[in-house]
Amino acid sequence: MEIVATFAEARGRNGRIGLVPTMGFLHEGHVSLIEAARSECDVVIMTLFVNPLQFEERVDLDRYPRDLERDAAIAESAGVDVIVAPSVEEMYPVWPPATVVQVPGLADIMEGAHRPGHFDGVATVVAKLFAGAQANRAYFGRKDAQQLAVVRAMARDLSFPIEVRGMPILRESDGLALSSRNVFLEPDRRAAALSLNMGLMAAADAVEAGERDAKQVASLAWDRMDQTPGVEPEYAEVASQDDVVSQDSLNEPTFLAVAARVGDVRLIDNVHFDVIDGEVVADRGTRLQHQSILYEGGH
Ligand code: PAJ
Repeated sequence: MEIVATFAEARGRNGRIGLVPTMGFLHEGHVSLIEAARSECDVVIMTLFVNPLQFEERVDLDRYPRDLERDAAIAESAGVDVIVAPSVEEMYPVWPPATVVQVPGLADIMEGAHRPGHFDGVATVVAKLFAGAQANRAYFGRKDAQQLAVVRAMARDLSFPIEVRGMPILRESDGLALSSRNVFLEPDRRAAALSLNMGLMAAADAVEAGERDAKQVASLAWDRMDQTPGVEPEYAEVASQDDVVSQDSLNEPTFLAVAARVGDVRLIDNVHFDVIDGEVVADRGTRLQHQSILYEGGH
C-alpha cells in the first residue's frame, strides 16, 4: 500500500517527526500548523485527505473544495518534507471500515450533537494516520476545539506515543476565522459571517472584565449572531477544554464555541479561556496583518 510505504519512507529519515493532518484546500491556518511543526521537528509530514467517514451529508462531501496541485505547492513552500494524499480506496480498503473509533463522552454536545457520527469519522481517520505515520508530534488547530479534545482523548486511550499540540486560531485581519469553507461566502454573507467573531470577542471582553457566568458569556455571542440578518445560530456554549463537558462558570480551562449557518455555509468558531497563574486569559487567536492571500473568493 502506497500510503504505508510513504509513511515508512518518512520514518526512515532521521529525527523527530511532526504530523499535520488536513483535508486540503490549504490556507494560512494550515500553514501556521506547518510552521509550528517545522520549528519543533526535523521531518514534517502533511496529510491531505477529504475523509468521507466524517461527512454526514453527501452534498457537503461532494462540494468540499479540492485542489491538490495548489496544496502541494503551498505545503512545499511552507516547509513540508513529505506530502501524503491517499485515495479513498487506499485509506479505506474495505468500505465502510469494519473498525470505527468512538469517543462518545466528548462528542455528545456542540458539533457532536449537530453532526451525528462526525467525530467517529474524525477519530477513526486520525487513529489511522497516527498508526501509519508514527510521528512524535501532531499539530491541530484550536479552531476545531472539540476535535482537538476528541483527538487528545483518543490518543491517550489508545496509547499512541504521540504528543498532540493545539495551536491558536488564525484569523483574517477583520477577525473572520480562516476556513476552507469561506470560499463559499458571497461578499454580503461574508460581512454577516463576521458576527461569529464579533460575538466571541464581546464575550472575551466580558470575561476579561471579570464575568464568570457561562450563560451570560455565551448569550453575548448568541445574541450578536442572532441579531445579524442572514445568520442562523445553532449554538453558543461553554465547555471544559479537556473533556468537553458543559460548564456553568469559567474558572477552569474552557472554551466558548459557536456554530451558525450563514446562507448555505455552516461556520464554527470559538475563543479559548486558559487559566494562567490563576488568571483567566482569552486566547482570541492570531490576526493576519494583511488579507489572506491563500484563500480566494471570500472578498
Ligand atoms: P481541516 O479542516 O483541513 O483542518 C486541518 C487542521 O487545520 C485542523 O487541525 C484544524 O483545526 C486546523 N485549522 C483549520 N482552520 C484553522 C485556523 N483558522 N487556524 C488554525 N488552525 C486551523 O480538521 C480537519 O481538516 C479534519 O477533521 C482532520 C483532522 C484532517 C481529519 O480528517
